[in-house]
Amino acid sequence: MRMYDLIEKKKYGEELTKEELEYIINGYVDGSIPDYQMSAWLMAVYFKGMTSRELTDMTITMAHSGDMVDLSAIEGIKIDKHSTGGVGDKTTLIITPMVAACGVKVAKMSGRGLGHTGGTVDKLESIEGYQTALDRQRFYEIVNTVGMSVIGQSGNLAPADKKLYALRDVTGTVDSIPLIASSIMSKKLAAGSDSILLDVTTGSGAFIEEFDKSIELAKTMVSIGEGAGRETVALLTNMDEPLGYAIGNTMEVQEAIETMKGNGPADLVEVCVALAGDMLYLAKKGTLEECREMATKTLTDGSAFERFKKMVAAQGGRCDVLEDTSLFGEAPYQMELLAKKSGYVQHMNAKECGIASMLLGAGRETKEDVIDMKAGILLKKKTTDAVKEGEVLAILYSSDENRLQTAADKLEAAYEIGDSKVAPLQMIQGRITKKDI
Ligand code: URA
Repeated sequence: MRMYDLIEKKKYGEELTKEELEYIINGYVDGSIPDYQMSAWLMAVYFKGMTSRELTDMTITMAHSGDMVDLSAIEGIKIDKHSTGGVGDKTTLIITPMVAACGVKVAKMSGRGLGHTGGTVDKLESIEGYQTALDRQRFYEIVNTVGMSVIGQSGNLAPADKKLYALRDVTGTVDSIPLIASSIMSKKLAAGSDSILLDVTTGSGAFIEEFDKSIELAKTMVSIGEGAGRETVALLTNMDEPLGYAIGNTMEVQEAIETMKGNGPADLVEVCVALAGDMLYLAKKGTLEECREMATKTLTDGSAFERFKKMVAAQGGRCDVLEDTSLFGEAPYQMELLAKKSGYVQHMNAKECGIASMLLGAGRETKEDVIDMKAGILLKKKTTDAVKEGEVLAILYSSDENRLQTAADKLEAAYEIGDSKVAPLQMIQGRITKKDI
């Protein structure tokens, strides 16, 4: 087999065999296929696409390029959840205990934030003492006793994706649906769960902003998951404004805790109930409606919060802050963003809100940046809200006073205020299962 011929084959839009795809992926990982040939092939995929059979074969090969996590030490059906990212997205913190409280074990490996989107591991590390790096044995032990554990990604998961992503990043081939789908799903397949729930965000704060493309991404990922023998469902959730009111690590944990205590904002609660409901459904706990009811109950009867506290205690975190979230403290410097005119908030650019939060110190521009855990934004007004000139739109927080003004300018530009009230955002925009592909 020659890589040259396989580049030509894809250039003319032909379908590659499983053996050919294995040759490409394994050859790239072991260094026998150079970057320039792989780049040409990726560009051919960018323009010609891949069939679902090709994509499934390639993704399975990518998953097997490193460790395949074995979760058999954990009893019961294991469900994983993945979000394509957003701003103010603290759903993992909330739905993991919701699902665990209903008797389904969740072994969750999460990532860190980069750019305008946050990461669950960073958020959890804002709880003093919380260990996100555990050895596998201890991780399984906590899942089996508490019912859940959230740790950082460890081990050598899908190294083919790591190498390919770095190449895509510098060759203009990131924004290709088949390449995004195989990248995400290779890591999910390697992570070892029986079934996968995908939260595909859509709108101004999402990785893919356009609705039609988000649907296509969701269908492609469901097709790969099902093709690889894992039951897979995707929910399309609205990320056209930040989720909830808090953006930034400590503040998002505080909002997540309040939500688990039954005091969450409506948009966040709606998304969490839908996601947790679908995870329970994948775990065969009942009909979708029954599962959503069970999920809702965990927020009103305190059982999700109880699970969360147990996990934090098991992983060495400080627990008094969970009972009284004011003990987290707040950043020393604050600035109120005031409305310059009266009207209604008609739109918020969620990505710009995320960038404003990053400018305050809450996120990383490069992997090496150190996060200011208490930096972030507390929104006071969101889409559809009426606002009067001089009213507070949001409060910005940082440990560095010099960061406030630039971030406030960015955040102000993210708000669109007009004369008429707009319709509320629909939070759940679609649900894709194997029937839809
Ligand atoms: N996230 C991933 O993991 N991979 C992509 O290609 C894009 C987003």
